Amino acid sequence: MKILRIDGDGIGPEVNEQALRVIKAAADFAGIPIETESALFGGASLDEYGVPLTDEVVALAKASDAVLLGAVGGPKWDDVPPELRAERGLLRIRKELGVYANLRPAKFFSCLDAACPLRPERVDGADFVIVRELVGGIYFGEPRGISGTAPNRRGVNSLAYDEASIRRVARFGFETARARGGQLMSVDKSNVLEVMRLWREIVTAMGAEEYPDVELSHAYVDAFAMQLVTWPNECDVIVTGNMFGDILSDIAAALTGSLGMLPSASLGDGPGIFEPVHGSAPDIAGQGRANPLGAILSGAMLLEYGAGRVDLARVIDMAVADVLESGLRTGDIKTAGDNVKLVGCTEMGDAVIARMMERLESSDPESAE
Ligand code: IPM
Ligand code: MG
Repeated sequence: MKILRIDGDGIGPEVNEQALRVIKAAADFAGIPIETESALFGGASLDEYGVPLTDEVVALAKASDAVLLGAVGGPKWDDVPPELRAERGLLRIRKELGVYANLRPAKFFSCLDAACPLRPERVDGADFVIVRELVGGIYFGEPRGISGTAPNRRGVNSLAYDEASIRRVARFGFETARARGGQLMSVDKSNVLEVMRLWREIVTAMGAEEYPDVELSHAYVDAFAMQLVTWPNECDVIVTGNMFGDILSDIAAALTGSLGMLPSASLGDGPGIFEPVHGSAPDIAGQGRANPLGAILSGAMLLEYGAGRVDLARVIDMAVADVLESGLRTGDIKTAGDNVKLVGCTEMGDAVIARMMERLESSDPESAE
């Protein structure tokens, strides 16, 4: 398996390092040969080549089996022109790889309940996944831009989806629901927006014709935002458009206590992009204090979706849960739980690998679920 490692900026290199160690240890155990190549992205690429993403890196990504991405951006590059910002590079690589389905699982660990802004009984047991459309919608719609002269300028962006783009991400949602609890919630704004009326119509028809076994429901995005912070433990699989998914997934991240814990996978028909949801955290970069668990869990998703090894992914998930249960904490989650021990990024990686190997070697039937 060829993995393109893109560390990016800030804490990207340190968390990616731990994710890769975990992937390699698991792959080694399972006899999957791993080849890695490194590339620059974001600020690191801007400093070296004057652009946040080069064509060479796009080509390398397309030729790989999976991209493991750290984080991009930082204050050093905040004042660059909009077309050179790291965000542009991120949108471009998503578009170039055609990763139309962005999976953001959010799982609440009860031993971290003190880090959660909701009362524990509200969020206990919460375990859901947002499937966000990633290469369309208002992020990419035309026309766009700012026209005219001040003080009469006009800014425009367009929210558009064609039937095919709705269908493919909806299919991903239905399939994900089938593999989990059998429930799918489609989130739209069809009471106001025509494009979302089309969204709801297509999703409803697919549900009736192709997925009668999946219990489909619909919600308007405003009402759903309220549900997400009121009864997050009633959510299972959510499918939604690009910008709604962007917003809802940050709410989801806050519910679990720390942004540092959340993984993501961006999938299409070619190589996927696997990256933690958190940013580059420049304030703690290079100090060995970052939480690598979001990156490690993204590594688990890489093995699940990029290598088809759901068994290894589940063992990594369980090892992460074990390590948290045992009281190890990085700085972002240090106030959560009693008898906790503050550790650094590498130590956390070591602990996950040790637990993972124990589980793999004991071939405990539970560990292969
Ligand atoms: C995310 C981020 C990006 C997005 C930004 C950095 C372009 O917020 O991945 O959620 O809006 O998609
Ligand atoms: Mg976001």
